[in-house]
Amino acid sequence: MVQEFDKVGVVGLGTMGAGIAEVFARAGFNVVGVEIDQAALDRGRGHVDKSLSRAVSKGKLTEEERSAIESRLTFSTSREDLSDADFVIEAVPERMEIKRDLFSDLDRICPPGTILATNTSSLSVTEIAALTDRPEKVVGLHFFNPAPVMKLAEVITTVSTSPETVDVVTEVAKRIGKTPITIGDRGGFVANALLVPYINDGIRLYERGIATREEIDESVKKAAGLPMGPLTLADLVGLDICLAVMDVLWEEFRDPRYSASPLLRRMVTAGRLGRKTGQGFYGGRDEAPEPPRTSRLAKIVREEETLDLGEMLIAPQIDDAMRMIGDGYASAKDVDTAMRFGCGYPKGPTELLEERGAESVITTLVAMGEYSLTSVLVPAPLLMDMLPDAEEDSSHGGGGGCACHG
Ligand code: 3HC
Repeated sequence: MVQEFDKVGVVGLGTMGAGIAEVFARAGFNVVGVEIDQAALDRGRGHVDKSLSRAVSKGKLTEEERSAIESRLTFSTSREDLSDADFVIEAVPERMEIKRDLFSDLDRICPPGTILATNTSSLSVTEIAALTDRPEKVVGLHFFNPAPVMKLAEVITTVSTSPETVDVVTEVAKRIGKTPITIGDRGGFVANALLVPYINDGIRLYERGIATREEIDESVKKAAGLPMGPLTLADLVGLDICLAVMDVLWEEFRDPRYSASPLLRRMVTAGRLGRKTGQGFYGGRDEAPEPPRTSRLAKIVREEETLDLGEMLIAPQIDDAMRMIGDGYASAKDVDTAMRFGCGYPKGPTELLEERGAESVITTLVAMGEYSLTSVLVPAPLLMDMLPDAEEDSSHGGGGGCACHG
């Protein structure tokens, strides 16, 4: 089935789109990259050039391989050049009016058999599919930054997606070297719904003067071996994207856990979007000054034994993961795969939970609650079920083991 695939269109060649185009070309597909005008196209080509040069200079790619990849990549400012594409994925800005215009064009230009995918991180795939006359052939295919490096691809299905489309896209994801998880359409999907509230937590700790940027970022590397801290990651992902994901989670769930940090919102308003604008939580001379750390709360956190900074970031994320599993949205395996392969975690949330034990995670959450450092007032039911007493009570039926792996 996938062998029939040859020509892939990638619309929008910002950081993500260019990375996606590179990933497909590396896997042997012929790729047409489409941008709105010549200047944007040149920038997109520049992203790909830079990434390939980096791989060559690191000895990961030979000059011959680079030339072969480049020969499979063509660039265009005309969507009409997608008229013979087998598969089109878009990574254009996250505004529904832009997607509407694009998907109505794609629906008109591409043959009826062409599968259309969106890399959206914050819009409803169902709504995008409904913009077309082929909703059964529309999916989300969500990549992670940097797209050439991170191995996860979330395949997002809607109530309209056909099983054949899911099969083909899952196979394509494997063929481009990604590890796919297939999930339904829900705010934040799996990885962003766990990652972005945690980034928001990091920003909240920072804006309340609990710790410095560096302390916050270092704390999770130390506590859980994460490759980068939440503030560095916010700059990498883009603060506008983080805010959009928080807002979509809030819209969907109306849970205080998903209210965006006021500082995040102000940074976005000020155009400090992270690496893409050169200014974010880090970024040269104009960095925002550190908030003062003289508050009573900052002192308590430094002195209170049950309030380790890294655990204060990890525990709510574990709680979120246990709610997601408890809701039946994703399995423990999917949750761990998402965070390992999408965000470079050495261990997924349920593995981090097993390492710590439910009691330790709950102790952190309760201590945070006492000082209003989290909106999680009652730990996830699945987490509570794992407390030793609860386990004993429920072991009459011969259960035992980790509740989340059901
Ligand atoms: N493009 C291409 N390749 C890149 C790259 C880029 N922008 N950045 C790094 N790489 C490659 C390097 O070539 C290197 O490959 P090698 O090991 O084969 O030589 C490898 O990645 C590691 O790079 P470095 O040694 O320079 O840097 P690090 O070891 O610090 O790793 C990282 C960088 C891979 C980004 C790592 O820090 C990491 O995994 N961070 C977490 C990133 C993350 O969580 N991403 C997901 C964000 S959420 C998202 O994107 C979804 C969206 O919807 C919001």
